[in-house]
Amino acid sequence: MTATTDRGAWGSRLGFILAAAGSAVGLGNIWGFPTQVGRGGGAVFVLVYLVCVALICLPIMIAEIAIGRRAQKDPVSAFAVIKPGSPWWAVGALGVMAGVGILSFYAVIAGWTIAYIWFTGSGVVHGSQEAIGAFFTDFTANGPATVLLTLLVLAMTAAAIIGGVRDGIERVTKALMPMLILLLIVLALRAVTLPGAAAGLDYYLRPDFSRLFDVSVLNAALGQAFFSLSLGMGAMITYGSYLPKRVGIAAAAMWVVFLDTSIALLAGFIIFPSGFSIEGFDPGASGPGLIFAVLPRLFATLPGGHLFGAAFFIMLFMAALTSTVSLLEVPVAYLIDSHRWTRRRAVITVAAVTFVLSIPSALGNGAIAFFGQLPVVGMDFLSLMATVWNNFALPVGGLFIALFVGWVWRIDGALAELLAEQAWFPGARVWGFLIRYVCPVAIFLIIVFTIQGLF
Ligand code: PHE
Repeated sequence: MTATTDRGAWGSRLGFILAAAGSAVGLGNIWGFPTQVGRGGGAVFVLVYLVCVALICLPIMIAEIAIGRRAQKDPVSAFAVIKPGSPWWAVGALGVMAGVGILSFYAVIAGWTIAYIWFTGSGVVHGSQEAIGAFFTDFTANGPATVLLTLLVLAMTAAAIIGGVRDGIERVTKALMPMLILLLIVLALRAVTLPGAAAGLDYYLRPDFSRLFDVSVLNAALGQAFFSLSLGMGAMITYGSYLPKRVGIAAAAMWVVFLDTSIALLAGFIIFPSGFSIEGFDPGASGPGLIFAVLPRLFATLPGGHLFGAAFFIMLFMAALTSTVSLLEVPVAYLIDSHRWTRRRAVITVAAVTFVLSIPSALGNGAIAFFGQLPVVGMDFLSLMATVWNNFALPVGGLFIALFVGWVWRIDGALAELLAEQAWFPGARVWGFLIRYVCPVAIFLIIVFTIQGLF
C-alpha cells in the first residue's frame, strides 16, 4: 500500500518523533498533570501514573503507531483495512468524536494561556495570593474574552494544518522542545530553593500508600496518562499513518513516552514546591486554576520575572498548539480519507463545529460565578468534559485498540509491522503479553470499578 500524495509523510525519524512528541507534550503535562496530582493526593498519584505509563500506555502507543503505519489511513478506515467487513471501524469513530470533544475544552485553556502571556508580561497579575486567585476567577468569568480567545486558538490551529500536517509542526517542535525543557529546569531549580519548598517536595514525592488502591486515583491516573500521551483516540494512528516504513516504531514510541513523562514530572517540581511556599496552600483546592494561581507568585521571586512569565506562557501556548493540531487532524484525516473531502473544507468544517461545542466550556467559569457548580455532577462544564473524555473515552478507546491488536490483528501480524526492516524492538514478546492480557484486563477493571463507584 502506498500513501497517496496529498496524505503527506514525515521527513525523517526525528521529524516523526518531534511531531508525535509535539502532540503529546502540551497542556496535559504542564496544566493537567499538576492539577491531577493535586486532586489525587500527591505522590501516590505520581506512582500510579508512572505504572500506567510503563505497563499500559507505552504498549498502546506502539500498537497505535503500528496500526496507522500498516493501514496508511485515518483511524476509521485503518481498522477496516486491517480487518475488512468488521465493526471495528467504530473504535476509530469514537476517536474522531473524542478529537472534537477534547479540542472543545482544550482550546479554551489554550486561550487562557494566550491571555496570561500578556497578564504576566505586563505585570497586571500580582500581589497577594488572594488577589492572584481572584484575578483568575474574574478573567475566566469574562465570557466574551474567553470565547474570543478560544476562537483565536481554533483559527490558528486550522491555519496551521490547512496546508498539511508536516512542515509547520516539525519545524516548530524542533525549536520549541529544547527551549521549553530548559525553561522548565530553570523554574524548577528556583522553585525547589524557595522557603517552604520542602513540604511541596514531600507532598510530591512521598506517597500516602493508604490511597494506592483508591479507584478514583487509579482512574484519574490512567485517564491522565492517556490524555498526556495523546492515546486512545487515534492521534497516534493518524501520525503513524504518515510514517515511512524504514523508521523503527518501538524506539520512536519510547522516545515520545520518555519526553512526555519527563516534562510532566518537571512541571510537578515547579508547581508543588512553589505552591507550598505560599502560606495556607491547598493543592487540591484550585482545580483548573492551579497553575494560574501558583506561577505568577513564582515569577515574582525571579529577577526579570515578567519576562520569565511571558516566555513561559508563550512556550506553553506553542506546546498547546502542536497538540491542538493533532486533535484536529484526526477528524480531518477521517473526512479526507473516508469521505474524499478536500483538506480545506474538512479543516474549516471541523473547526467551526468544535467552536460551537466549545462555548459552554469557555463560558463555564462565568456560569459558575452566577449559578455555582453544575447541580448533578458537582463540577463546571469544562471539568465535566475533561472527565468524560479523558477518564472514560480515552481508556475505553485504548482497551479496544489493545483487544484489536492482541486478538484480531494478532501479535504476529502486528510484529510483522513492528519488526519491518530489522527494526529494533528487544521487548517484542513482553509487549505482546502486555497488549493481549495486561492492558485489556487492567483498563477494564479500572473502568468497571469507577462506574460502580459512581452509584
Ligand atoms: N497530549 C496532549 C497534551 O498533553 C493532549 C492531546 C490528547 C492531544 C489527545 C492529542 C490527543 O496536552
